Amino acid sequence: MTESQGRGPLPYGLRCDHRVEPLGLDEPAPLLSWRLSSGRRGDAPAGYRVRVRDEDGTQVWDTGAVDDPSAVSVRYGGPALRARTRYLWTVAVAGADGAWTQEGSWFETGMQGPSAWTAAWITHDPSVLDVVDAPEEGELALADHGLQPAVRLRKAFEVPAAPAGARLYVTARGLYEMRVNGERVGDAELAPGWTDYRDRVDYQVHDVTGLLRPGTNMLAATVADGWWSGFAGFDPRRPGAHYGTFPQLLAELHLVHAGGAVDVIATGGDWQSARSPVRYADLLKGECHDLRRETPGWDLPAGDRDDAGWLPAWVAGTDPSRLTASAAPPVRAVRELPARSVTRAGENRFLVDFGQNFAGRVRLTARGLTRGDRVVVRHGEALDDAGGLYTANLRTADATDVLIAGDDAETVFEPRFTYHGFRHVEVTGLTALDAGDITGVVLHSDTPWAGEFTCSDPGIDRLHQAICWGQRSNFVSVPTDCPQRDERLGWLADAQVFLPTACLNADVAAFFDGWLREVRGAQSPDGAFTNVAPRLAGVADEGAPGWGDAGVLIPWHLYQVYGDERFLERNLDAMCAWVDHIHRHNPGLVWTRRVGPHFADWLAPAPTPRDVLATAYFARSADLTARAAGVLGRDETAARYGALAGHIRKTFTERFATPDGRIHGDTQTGYLLALAFGLLPAELVPGAVRRLAELVEEAGPGLTTGFLGVGLIAPVLDAHGHADLAHALLRRTDPPSWLYPLGHGATTVWERWDGYTAERGFQAAAMNSFNHYALGSVGEWLHRGVAGLDQAPGSAGYRELLIRPRPGDLTSASARYESVRGTVATAWSRHDGVFDLRVTVPPGATATVHVPTDDPAGVRESGVPAADAPGVRIAGAGPRELRCRIASGEYRFTAGLH
Ligand code: BGC
Repeated sequence: MTESQGRGPLPYGLRCDHRVEPLGLDEPAPLLSWRLSSGRRGDAPAGYRVRVRDEDGTQVWDTGAVDDPSAVSVRYGGPALRARTRYLWTVAVAGADGAWTQEGSWFETGMQGPSAWTAAWITHDPSVLDVVDAPEEGELALADHGLQPAVRLRKAFEVPAAPAGARLYVTARGLYEMRVNGERVGDAELAPGWTDYRDRVDYQVHDVTGLLRPGTNMLAATVADGWWSGFAGFDPRRPGAHYGTFPQLLAELHLVHAGGAVDVIATGGDWQSARSPVRYADLLKGECHDLRRETPGWDLPAGDRDDAGWLPAWVAGTDPSRLTASAAPPVRAVRELPARSVTRAGENRFLVDFGQNFAGRVRLTARGLTRGDRVVVRHGEALDDAGGLYTANLRTADATDVLIAGDDAETVFEPRFTYHGFRHVEVTGLTALDAGDITGVVLHSDTPWAGEFTCSDPGIDRLHQAICWGQRSNFVSVPTDCPQRDERLGWLADAQVFLPTACLNADVAAFFDGWLREVRGAQSPDGAFTNVAPRLAGVADEGAPGWGDAGVLIPWHLYQVYGDERFLERNLDAMCAWVDHIHRHNPGLVWTRRVGPHFADWLAPAPTPRDVLATAYFARSADLTARAAGVLGRDETAARYGALAGHIRKTFTERFATPDGRIHGDTQTGYLLALAFGLLPAELVPGAVRRLAELVEEAGPGLTTGFLGVGLIAPVLDAHGHADLAHALLRRTDPPSWLYPLGHGATTVWERWDGYTAERGFQAAAMNSFNHYALGSVGEWLHRGVAGLDQAPGSAGYRELLIRPRPGDLTSASARYESVRGTVATAWSRHDGVFDLRVTVPPGATATVHVPTDDPAGVRESGVPAADAPGVRIAGAGPRELRCRIASGEYRFTAGLH
């Protein structure tokens, strides 16, 4: 789509609302954004021009040439967007030399409001679902577990001529998979995703033009329980307790003909329904597929179709009022893992190791079957001491999939409506199993991967990989705590502590934008955020310190990373209400009342006093609310919360700090919160830092932090002159440490520092996940500290970079990040007393580079003295560094460092 190849900065990576070519958008003023690249040092855009046309080519909006060298996005500001319409848009960027370069993309609007829907919620008549079958070996008793078969729905319809366009607008209460003429529609998994269905159900849009043909066509669906009517969380109650009792489908197929006429095929009583051969499918329990009940051709327009067992669909409701276009990327089968080993464990039993803990399912080719044979696949994260599958830590999540053979001797089994967290599986019921017959299918919300990190220590590289796998495994529709046991909840603190790391690994803007709707939606009328979102019956509602505060911390952090003020606009009222709620119940400014289930510094070896921790978070939330209001120009609000934050800080100091900077409780986390949140007056900071460093030293050096302190320890030590201690913690290998689990079989970050020890074996099974990302929040410091790729304080959207590597005794490290402005990167190495630092700064951004050196005067850039290098300005020198200001481009500094 490039119109002219100017020499100026080139736009690329166009996004609409942080998504690539989104299909189905209900947002009235979407954000159109682009990134910039350039081969020239010092290049910066002079301005931009965005134009939007509708599908007929009529221009609907033109910004005109906008003279703004910092812009990499603009909010659509034209006339109201029409529903179900594709818009084409272009951005042209002007270089300093006046040449324009243009790129194009598109977005398509969705239903834009409930009134547009004519479809009804349909299902199979629940009274004839037949859920009382006697269970057979390996299967769960349906009635005992409240499980029920999945449901098939279909409708045949005529298409006189191939339509010009066809869109399927679809959702489910439960999970759906759609088919057109036997072909699967789209590649989303576990759709429509998890929301609090009482408030909101996301719908998706699929382009199905290519799947239709003139004549008779068949639109078909399978719906299963999912989060709607299946087990969710650790509530032992039967399904139905959370949202609904049986799965339902709602869909509209819009056939757009050449002249513009539209035919709509909508779910209603004129559809057919039947019980599916999926005898049950549950996210926690697993899935059972009975091929004896399979009716091939059920989803085809004609031919062998067997109408026996089909009934008129049961209309469960017609209310479309809670439908919203999904903002987040769908869950997808993102990659596959081959089996690393297959071991025979009994006559018809095999153990398979995928070598990696992950969330997903397996695809299994089963051979040598006779009708009625059962193949049972159990999932687990580890093996027990006897070499068998260890499942005690899954609690009530059976995580067991069952295939019941039909007439075919060979079949491929891949469950569709469940997922598990596992590394190992046990397969029973087969006489032979080759490694090539079983594949791990990795599922996660398809957030585009955006970051890389590597360094000279293979242990730290493995830690980084484990952190990334924790992210993949736990970003499944919502940010979950763990993927394996009967929990998998959107715990707010886990999400907030991990967010800075997550943002450096992947583009999570749309993912969190979607989830923040749940966070806001769950807020109580009194202003309390919850502990989990989507909210779930059976989980203590009112947000604990550090948990509820995520409703403030997350939007703020997203704004900083993505520079999109809408994260603040959409959340500011909720942020204010949360701070007001705490304030109302704690007028003395020490947060002791309405602390929800106060989880404190969860799982910390050294507990921090609860009032210290809570009050620190109260101050933090008030402060960030003030800053958010300031960004939005809401000055009065900013002043009010700013003053409140000041009073809380003062109270914190008076109540909890001694004149020499000691914090009540004297724990690492206490100092970390006080320092990270800027709670202490300047004169107390040195004492607090000194004591923090002593505590770290005394512990080994070691850490005694829990979930809330752990992400702060390396950045705070670094910020206060103790990067050496941060490195010492990073490289420690005995517990509690990040590397200890990696020496004991971990491929993901554990929930507990000592989930398994050689002396004791497994930690208590009641709470021992091997795939929790919270303690992996140190990932942020790998990028920002070790590799030195950071934003300057006060910068949003990577406008102002801070490049400050912390080499420690490593010999190299590098990080690369695809920011909203373009690629930012650092790569350093040190050999023979020479420190070599490469930096990439995208057009329009600037950076301050701290070059570590013991000879500031000798620093060179691309071979010439730094002071003479184009695009480089010396900003100062310290005893062990030279500070330079640089414009966009690629730089290579070399400096003496011993
Ligand atoms: C979860 C955590 C969560 C915590 C609340 C646990 O069961 O797994 O990650 O934040 O409960 O303290």
